[in-house]
Amino acid sequence: MAQRMRLKLRTVFVLYFLVSLLGLVYALMQLGQRCDCTEHDLPYERTISRLRGELHKLQEDIHKIESSPQAQKPKSSLPTIYVITPTYARLVQKAELTRLSQSLLHVPALHWILVEDAAQKTTLVSNLLRNSGLSYTHLHMPTAPQRKLHEGDPNWLKPRGVEQRNEGLRWLREDRRALPGGVSEQGVVYFADDDNTYSLQLFQEMRSTQKVSVWPVGLVGAMKYESPTVKAGKVVGFHTGWRPSRPFPIDMAGFAVSLRLLLTHPDTCFDGDAPQGFLESSLLQGLVTMDELEPRADNCTKVLVWHTRTEKPKLKREEALQAQGLGSDPAVEV
Ligand code: UGA
Ligand code: MN
Repeated sequence: MAQRMRLKLRTVFVLYFLVSLLGLVYALMQLGQRCDCTEHDLPYERTISRLRGELHKLQEDIHKIESSPQAQKPKSSLPTIYVITPTYARLVQKAELTRLSQSLLHVPALHWILVEDAAQKTTLVSNLLRNSGLSYTHLHMPTAPQRKLHEGDPNWLKPRGVEQRNEGLRWLREDRRALPGGVSEQGVVYFADDDNTYSLQLFQEMRSTQKVSVWPVGLVGAMKYESPTVKAGKVVGFHTGWRPSRPFPIDMAGFAVSLRLLLTHPDTCFDGDAPQGFLESSLLQGLVTMDELEPRADNCTKVLVWHTRTEKPKLKREEALQAQGLGSDPAVEV
């Protein structure tokens, strides 16, 4: 009886041992298996879905703001700067216009009025403007033959860029006036020759022009710089090396005019017959007095524009090669 009992106990013990062993083997097998990560993925999926929700909400907000009446107004509330540039065909024209246009690209709320001294608009200038990324108007106005400088003439003999600047003014007065804003439009007009060097800060300085703002111009008039002289915030005279008695001895690059002033003085323009050095005065005389000039660039103590002039390229070797039929490919635009 006791022996049977012992046998039963041993069997139970062996069975218990076997079951435990099986349990252990199963547990070890599970450890070796790839984990089913569904449960671990849940927080990640939740984060993605939460972010998607937020993105959707932000997209809706952007759409609401963009379609609000405020957003329909012009993008910028800054007064527009209208830059009038006369330009003429010569070897360095594309280089000059590339440099100038890429400076202007950095200036917000700017409209470039490029006026070709030509009987027709050229392909070179049309393409350059189209690819410039700027807001622009392309005009043309040939200089009358009797006013045009000829090869070898000293450049002081006749004024340059006069008819072109006047054509730019005509466009602003006649064509622009018809556009929304009209005379009430806040704007500034600057005459920027295609060969000068312009600091971006200059455009910030001129943006607030009420009537006519002025500043120094570097490397001009055979001087290091020319400049209005300022005392107690007012222009009282001019630092210039030549005929300081001129009404406004200021280079074209040294002033900007408010658009409103030009629109309310519809007949004021540049006089191509003005004596040498009086071109700028011929416009400004009809618009302001010296007392009204608004000094900029730290009371005219900083040079932010330079009257640089580009050397005419010498083509001695090109011509020598051309004589042998080996000149540069005329199809390549320079
Ligand atoms: C100086 C002044 O800085 C000019 O603003 C002024 O017009 C000129 O003198 C003048 O006395 O008439 P300067 O460097 O001697 O300038 O003149 P350019 O740079 O040769 O010409 C001024 C502008 O007129 C330039 O934008 C140029 O491309 C344009 N231009 C020149 C023409 O449109 N046609 C021409 O035949 C010559
Ligand atoms: Mn020049």
